[in-house]
Amino acid sequence: MSVDVSRPNLAVGVVGTGAMGRGIAQVTAQGGMKAIMFDAAPGGAAKAKAAILDTLKGLVAKGRLTDADLAKTDANLLVTEKIDGLKDCQIVVEAVFENLEVKQKLFGELEAVVSPDTILASNTSSIRIASIARSLKKRDRVCGMHYFNPVPLMKLVEVIRAADTSQATVDTMVALGKRQTRVPVVVGDTPGFLVNLGGTAIGTEGLRIYQEGRATPSQVDAVMRDTCGFRMGPFELMDLTGIDVNFPARKIIYEGFFHDRRMTPSPYHEGLYHAGRLGRKTGGGWYGYDEKGGKVDPGADHASKAAPAASVVIMDSHNQKLVGLVNADGAKMLGADDGKSPILVAPVGKDCTTTAVELGLDPRRTVAVDLTGDTAKRVTIMTAPNGDPAVRDAAAALLGRSGAKVTLIKDSPGFIAQRMCAMIANLGCEMAMIGIASAADVDTAMTLGLNYPRGPLALADWLGVKTCHEILTEMQDITGDDRYRPSQWLRRRAQLGLSATLPE
Ligand SMILES: NC(=O)c1ccc[n+]([C@@H]2O[C@H](COP(=O)([O-])OP(=O)(O)OC[C@H]3O[C@@H](n4cnc5c(N)ncnc54)[C@H](O)[C@@H]3O)[C@@H](O)[C@H]2O)c1
Repeated sequence: MSVDVSRPNLAVGVVGTGAMGRGIAQVTAQGGMKAIMFDAAPGGAAKAKAAILDTLKGLVAKGRLTDADLAKTDANLLVTEKIDGLKDCQIVVEAVFENLEVKQKLFGELEAVVSPDTILASNTSSIRIASIARSLKKRDRVCGMHYFNPVPLMKLVEVIRAADTSQATVDTMVALGKRQTRVPVVVGDTPGFLVNLGGTAIGTEGLRIYQEGRATPSQVDAVMRDTCGFRMGPFELMDLTGIDVNFPARKIIYEGFFHDRRMTPSPYHEGLYHAGRLGRKTGGGWYGYDEKGGKVDPGADHASKAAPAASVVIMDSHNQKLVGLVNADGAKMLGADDGKSPILVAPVGKDCTTTAVELGLDPRRTVAVDLTGDTAKRVTIMTAPNGDPAVRDAAAALLGRSGAKVTLIKDSPGFIAQRMCAMIANLGCEMAMIGIASAADVDTAMTLGLNYPRGPLALADWLGVKTCHEILTEMQDITGDDRYRPSQWLRRRAQLGLSATLPE
């Protein structure tokens, strides 16, 4: 079965005209297609149409839309009070409540009304498409069409291929997505689909760092913003989307992948959920918020400015990035230990303790520096448990002279940036390997769906594919946790010196 999506009179039914349905109807109508809106609540569809037109009138007033565009969109938005009004649609997209029974019943009703060739798509975020389709007579025309909120602004749409979905159905929905001016990616019918699954890595690893007492939420967020270019760190993001939304979503994905340790949720996250500290909307989550909604941030900067900066440091002069940092600060660099100065090391995937012990350095004077990403803005340091605070502060003051802020964390394999980025990259590699989507689509979806500065596979390249692999193997070795096992996709590309983005 195939629908000619380019036909001018294409009619797309939109069932459920709440937050998502409105957006889907809007981009459909603006794409020059008829959007026939239906909602179970009497008058709901008409109300939704009025709301869309109100928004568009606002855009006309700002000069961002013409009156002619508005009139065309208005004419393309049709309302029906009965499900029978969808009978001539070539495609129907459902955006009703997130409940399997409700969706199954609706799809049964739709099947009785529409033609056998009509494609039926669900905008569900967490229900398997196959389970919605299972009681239908014709399942090859059912797929997922997962848009992101707010639909008109979020370009991505995940076209979800279930077990019985035909290639013609997928092709048609990709074409529909394009006509709606979206960027479609084709995704497997697995828990969390692509973006919601890929997005678990940053949250679970941030929580792991916090749970282990290595760094505070403020520190994790600041490092991800300043050194890795993320618009938001994981704790800020959790507070924004709401703990009541992201904690249950984490659990669904963890259960869905049968307790894969890469996706393990955190009891600390659950703690906030049970306490009703749901983030911004309740005035408190990982952060507190003032009356105006401003974040109360305890800060991530180590107050080392008061300490005298070290004038001599012991370090490996072959490490160009470290040399650059210290050079900028004008300290003398010695290759051999003088028995009193800070010893700067830049471990990959190892903690300061392991590094000092393996290299036979004095752990009390060893200061580990993370050189990942943009060290001009922020540098992360850590010391062994018996590290001398005076030596540490002298090293911090020296590094801070370059203008970079210094974040001091507890000793941890992989600091913050290394372990966060390696885990995001690793999950992306795994998603490409198990075929949730193509390598290119994994990166496209994660940049468009979550505003990441680069997709997970490009992130592995940014870290260095070998470095990324090394971070994970070291972490797996030190923690003994299977959570850090490198994806075979990453391992092969690291072994061969290839880009992580290379498809199979
Ligand atoms: N809100 C989001 O950020 C988001 C993002 C992606 C996907 N989704 C998914 O989109 C779907 C809709 O979410 P939403 O946030 O727009 O919900 P919503 O509560 O804003 O709207 C749901 C609408 O569906 C209508 N409805 C319920 N049962 C119906 C039925 N049997 N027939 C016709 N209409 C019915 C309701 O009256 C309501 O207007 C859910 O499956 C959700 O998981 C939501």
